[in-house]
Amino acid sequence: MCGIVGYMGCQQAYPILIKGLHRLEYRGYDSAGIALIDSNNELNIYKAKGKVANLEHFADSKNISGTIGIAHTRWATHGEPNDTNAHPHVSQTGSLALIHNGIIENYAVLKKYLQDRGVVFRSETDTEVLVQLIGYLQQTNNCDLCTAVQQALREVVGAYAIAVIEKGNPDQIIAARKSSPLVIGIGEGEFFIASDATPIVEHTQQVIYPNDEEIVVIRRGEPLKIVNFENIEHPHQIKHIDMDISQLEKGGYPHFMLKEIYEQPQTLIDCIRGRINPEGTDVILSGVMDNKERFLNARRIIIAACGTSWHAALIGEHLIEELCRIPVEVEYASEFRYRNPVIYPDDVVIAISQSGETADTLAAVEIAKKQGAFIYGICNVIGSSIPRATDSGSYIHVGPEIGVASTKAFTGQVTVLSMLALTIAKLKNSIDPQLYRKLLGELRSIPQRMEETLKLDAPIRELSKIFTYARNFIYLGRGYNYPVALEGALKLKEISYIHAEGYPAAEMKHGPIALIDEEMPVVAIATTDSIYEKTISNIQEIKARKGRIIALVTRGNHEVARFADSVIELPETDERLAPLIAAIPLQLLAYYIAVNKGRDVDQPRNLAKSVTVE
Ligand code: F6R
Repeated sequence: MCGIVGYMGCQQAYPILIKGLHRLEYRGYDSAGIALIDSNNELNIYKAKGKVANLEHFADSKNISGTIGIAHTRWATHGEPNDTNAHPHVSQTGSLALIHNGIIENYAVLKKYLQDRGVVFRSETDTEVLVQLIGYLQQTNNCDLCTAVQQALREVVGAYAIAVIEKGNPDQIIAARKSSPLVIGIGEGEFFIASDATPIVEHTQQVIYPNDEEIVVIRRGEPLKIVNFENIEHPHQIKHIDMDISQLEKGGYPHFMLKEIYEQPQTLIDCIRGRINPEGTDVILSGVMDNKERFLNARRIIIAACGTSWHAALIGEHLIEELCRIPVEVEYASEFRYRNPVIYPDDVVIAISQSGETADTLAAVEIAKKQGAFIYGICNVIGSSIPRATDSGSYIHVGPEIGVASTKAFTGQVTVLSMLALTIAKLKNSIDPQLYRKLLGELRSIPQRMEETLKLDAPIRELSKIFTYARNFIYLGRGYNYPVALEGALKLKEISYIHAEGYPAAEMKHGPIALIDEEMPVVAIATTDSIYEKTISNIQEIKARKGRIIALVTRGNHEVARFADSVIELPETDERLAPLIAAIPLQLLAYYIAVNKGRDVDQPRNLAKSVTVE
């Protein structure tokens, strides 16, 4: 949440910063701002409510010169989205400008302390407290900017990734982080700062990921330096990142979400590449193999995640319990972290996160780590905080996911969980060799089946027109498809703003069936599996109450068409892998309904992709 970007070098900073903000806009987009130091050493700050385009529109005609600057795109936490609350914020004298991603938890105490000493605040934000504190300490203690930042951060409770510049000093940026992401790019005589690598990769592939409570001192003409609060220098490692720039563009699609839905056959291939052998006889997830004793001796597996990643975790629970016979508990990371959970040293805790930055999931990892469990990460963004905090893990390798609604990351997570379950099951001898080989073959054929499923685009688009003005939706599934129902409902509500609920189909009669009438669309996942007959009975109970049924069935099924209002036929696959196929029509349905309603599909209201606040 919130994206920060900074630049210092020989080029004009403004175009680099604006492009960087566009790349980071998925993180928050309710206001944006920029601070530049020009050749007269003046600090020029421009801010605008709304998207980055509004800022550009406002600033383009102003003095936007300068080879140093910082910029911000906001997802409001403290104070409504408006020009005043937008970052950068400035110190009392106007000499310092600061951008921040995170939350200053003790801002009220700090604000009172500063107000008692005559500091006047302009905004309602927690961030302004930080820049005012730095400015106050710099003046009171007559020290340089880096020292004032060190002193201020010692007083701060919370999460931050910050960058600060100073009027009259066009040769220095001070940045720092704790629990919020920060990447520093090192070019030829130039430096880049960003919340993730996407604004940096087109300029340099050399990056540094600072650790918690590290301060990055960037000075023109000098090598970058990292120090701690006591000014002791920390060694740093420069990493090489590889990212295909075209993955950051829409590539002819109207929205990133649609592009990412269509990428799934390829991302699935990328995800299994090098893990399933070419003969399709074996799967090796190296993170599991390197730690096989931990998995073989696991008393239980706990999976912590949020949102879509939590839905993938529920599918992982089914897979691991069925194939490996290890008990699995799936936890909302936000609940797990605050309920003093019982964790044993022989537990394995799996943290699933596309961004690798979700604050609650990261906190769950830290708690489990303290209690001695082995921590395994399943993430997408390489070098992000969760993979760095875990003992081992597997990347899902689906490439940057930019649409706020998660699509290809979900299928990537489920794919890694399938490979993880198969790897452990083989090690444990808990799977019949024939089933093992069958599932590997099925997994390898999923990309082809996804291609076939994507051909349903046109009929789903037609179907979406019928339901554009529905006020509610219910999604039903059982077994492996129950989490898919939850995911389908989440996709619809987050991008179309239609109220939607996912339920296990048999739960309906315990209350929610009271909601059913002729106006209620019910999406029922009824692909052929071991509980198909039961699911059909549940759907008939809905039909008997006049619900409007949209059924997802396995190709060739003619039974459901007799009572469903619409039927979507999906290619056949093993029920354990069915979510990888069934998710796609639900993604498309949500997408087209949102488009029909004129919603901002890639950047839905109130949301941000990387949830770095709790
Ligand atoms: C829904 C969605 C969110 C995320 C959730 C966790 O489409 O994207 O529900 O799944 O915020 O994010 P990650 O996976 O980055 O930890």
